[in-house]
Amino acid sequence: MATAAASQAAALRWEVEDGVAVLVLDVPGRPVNVLSPELTREFERALERLARREDGVRAAVLLSGKPGVWIAGADIDLFRTLTRPEEAEALSRHAQELMNRLAALPVPLVAAIEGVALGGGLELALACSYRVAADTPKTRLGLPEVQLGLLPGAGGTQRLPRLIGVRSALDLMLTGRQLDPRRASKLGLVDEVVPAPILRRIAVQRARELADGQRAPHLPRERGSPVAWERVPGAVALVLRQARAQVVRQTKGHYPAPLRILEVVGRTWNRPLAEGLREEARAFGALAVTPESRALVHIFFASNRAKEDPPLPPGVRAPTVQRMMVVGAGFMGAGIAAVSAQNGIRVRLKDVNAEALGRGLRTARQLLEAYAQRRRLPRWERTKLFDRLQPTLRYNGLRHAELVVEAVFEDVELKRHVFRELEAAAAPTTVLASNTSTIPIARLAEAVQRPERVIGLHFFSPVERMPLVEVIVPSTAAPAAVALGHRYVKAIGKTPIRVADRPGFYVNRILGPYVQEALLLLESGVPIEAIDAAAVAWGLPVGPITLLDEVGLDVAQKSGEILRQAFGDRGAASDALARLMADGRLGRKNGRGFFRYEAGKRRGVDAEVYRLLGVQPGAAPPTPELQDRLVLPLLNEAVRALEEGVIDSPDVGDIGAVFGFGFPPFRGGPFWHLDQVGLSTVVARLEELTRRFGRRFEPTALLRAKAERGERFYA
Ligand code: 3HC
Repeated sequence: MATAAASQAAALRWEVEDGVAVLVLDVPGRPVNVLSPELTREFERALERLARREDGVRAAVLLSGKPGVWIAGADIDLFRTLTRPEEAEALSRHAQELMNRLAALPVPLVAAIEGVALGGGLELALACSYRVAADTPKTRLGLPEVQLGLLPGAGGTQRLPRLIGVRSALDLMLTGRQLDPRRASKLGLVDEVVPAPILRRIAVQRARELADGQRAPHLPRERGSPVAWERVPGAVALVLRQARAQVVRQTKGHYPAPLRILEVVGRTWNRPLAEGLREEARAFGALAVTPESRALVHIFFASNRAKEDPPLPPGVRAPTVQRMMVVGAGFMGAGIAAVSAQNGIRVRLKDVNAEALGRGLRTARQLLEAYAQRRRLPRWERTKLFDRLQPTLRYNGLRHAELVVEAVFEDVELKRHVFRELEAAAAPTTVLASNTSTIPIARLAEAVQRPERVIGLHFFSPVERMPLVEVIVPSTAAPAAVALGHRYVKAIGKTPIRVADRPGFYVNRILGPYVQEALLLLESGVPIEAIDAAAVAWGLPVGPITLLDEVGLDVAQKSGEILRQAFGDRGAASDALARLMADGRLGRKNGRGFFRYEAGKRRGVDAEVYRLLGVQPGAAPPTPELQDRLVLPLLNEAVRALEEGVIDSPDVGDIGAVFGFGFPPFRGGPFWHLDQVGLSTVVARLEELTRRFGRRFEPTALLRAKAERGERFYA
C-alpha cells in the first residue's frame, strides 16, 4: 500500500493508492460540494490526467473530503441570475458534457459515496462505472430538482431510467425523495453498501478489479430500460399515464416541472442517449426561468437564511440542548417529546397524574415506533431511541436540563403556576419555553424571577409532520435564551422563525383575516364548497372552512378573539363560530362542524350550518373575486406584521407562511408573491375592495408607501 499526494488542486485532490487515483473533492470556502463551471474545469484537468494514466494509474475513485456531503448538486445560486431559457439550457449542456466525458473515460471510475449525493451529484455518480455507498445516516441519494421547479439537467432524466428502469426513476424524479443506501442498493442505484471506515479501501479495490476485468462495470444502457417488463410494448406508456394522472391530482396543474419530466422521459427513454440529452437540456432551460422555479429557489435560500443563528453579544454562548423536559403529556407535549428524542435529545415527559402521563407516553412511543420502522433502525439503535424518552410525575432531573418546554392546557393562570414551579426546580440557566398559540409570553415571564430565560416555542400540530416552529421573543428575553431555542428547533430538524411576542405571533395573525373573510363570505350566502374551492384553486392545501373544522372551532374562536381584542375587527366581524359552537360543534374532533362526519370520515357540508347562521346559500361570486377577498387580507396582514416588527424580514414572513400553513410554495410566500403581482396592483385592488366591503381591506401604510415609491420587498 502506498499513498502519495502527488499534487494539490483547489477543489479536487489527486492521491494515488495501489495504482488507483483517488480524487478527493472538497470545494474550498463552501459548506457543501456543489458543481459549478470552475469545478468542471478542475474535473476536466483531472480527467486529462486520468486519460494519460499519469502516475501509472489504471482506475480512479471519487471521494468527498466533506463529512456528510458527497455532492449537493449544481450550485443553485447560479440559477438565480439566469434570465433567458437559452442561458439555462447552456448550463445544462455544460454539465451534461462533463458527465459524458466521465462516462467515456478510458479507465474505470468508482463513485465512493458518503453523505448526500443529490441532483447533479447523483447524476455524476450515474456517469461512473460503479457506485459504492457508506452505510451512514447522512448518506442519501436523490434528485430533488423537482422541488426547485426543475428537472435533472445533467443527464439524470436519461441515465437514471436506463440504469434502474423507468418506473423507479420517475418515482425519484417526480417526488425528489431521497433514498438511504439500503433502498438505493435494492433499486440497483448503488452496487454495494459498506461501513464508512472501509469505504475508501473497498472503492479502491473495486476500481482495481474493474481495471483488471475481474468485475464488470454497471452502466446505464445506451437506450431503453434494464427492467424486462418495461420493454414489453405499451408497458412504459401505461406507467407514464398513471404517473401523469397522479401528478395532476396532486399538483392541480400548478407545477410545470413534474409534467415536463414525464414528457421528456416519455419521449426519450427508448431513444439514443445523445438525443435524450438534447431534450433534457431544452426542458431544463425552459423550466429554469419559470416563475414557479424562481419562487421555489427563493424558498430554498430564504429557509437557509431563516435558519441562520441569531447574533450573540461577544463572549456569550448558547449551549446546545442535550437534555430537556416536556411538561404536559397531551397530544402536543407527546409530539414534542418524541421528535426531540428522535433527534438525539434525552427527554423527560412530565404530567401531574399517572393516567395522563401514561396516555402521553403511549402516543410518544407510537411516534417513535413509526420513526424506527421508517428508518429501519437496527435493534441497538431502537433501544437507545426509546431509552431517551423517560416519563416522570415530578421535576426530578430538571436541574440537568438545558431546556423545558411547557405544553400544558392553554390557560394563563395554570401556565404561570407551572412556570413558577419550573423556576424553583430548574437550574438558573435552564431556558423555560412555552408552547402556546394564544398567551403572551410576557405574561409568563412576569411570573418568574428571571424573565430573561423565558421564550415561546410555538409548535404546529401534528408536531411530527409540521416543519415550522415560531420562536417567540418577548422583550425581556436574553439573546442566549433565544439562540438556544433557535438552535434547538434546528436540532430537531425543523425550521425556526423568530417572531416578536405580539398577539397571534405571525402565522395565526396572518391567518386571522383570511379565516374571518371566509366566515363573512359564508354569512353573505356564498356556499361553503365555493369558498373552499376558490382557496384550493389558488394553491392552498385546504380551504379556510375545512381548516376551521380541522383546527377545531373552539381553538379558532379563541385565537380570533385574541386578534380582535388586540387589533379591533377593522370594520366587520363574524360571530359564526360562536353560533356554531353554541350548537355543540367543534369540528372534526367531535364529528360535528361545517361538515358532516361518519365514523371519522368526512362527508359533505352540513346543510344545518346555513340554517343555524340564518343564510340561504346562493350563487358564488366569480372565483378570482373570492380569491382576492380571501388572500389579499392575508397578504396585507403579513406586511403589517413586518411593519410592526413582528417579523424582521420578508424571508421570515415567506417561510412562516409556506411552512406554517402551506401557503403555495410555487408562489414563494406572501412577500415574494406581492412582488410578482406588483405592489401598486395589490394596493389598487385592496382600495377597490375597501370601497365595496369596508375598511378591513385598507392597504397597510408600508404597502402603500412601497407601492408609491415603486419598490419591492426583494431587490
Ligand atoms: N447550491 C448552492 N448552495 C447550496 C446547495 C446547492 N446545491 N446545497 C446546499 N447549499 C448551501 C446552503 O445554501 C447553505 O448555505 P449557507 O450556509 O450559506 O446558508 C449551506 O450549503 C448548507 O446547507 P444547509 O444549511 O441546507 O445544510 P444541511 O446540512 O441542512 O443540508 C443539504 C445539506 C442536504 C445538501 C441541503 O443543503 C440540500 O438539500 N441542498 C440542496 C440540494 C439540491 O437541491 N440539489 C439539487 C440542485 S439542482 C441540480 O443539481 C441541477 C442539476 O440537475 C443540473
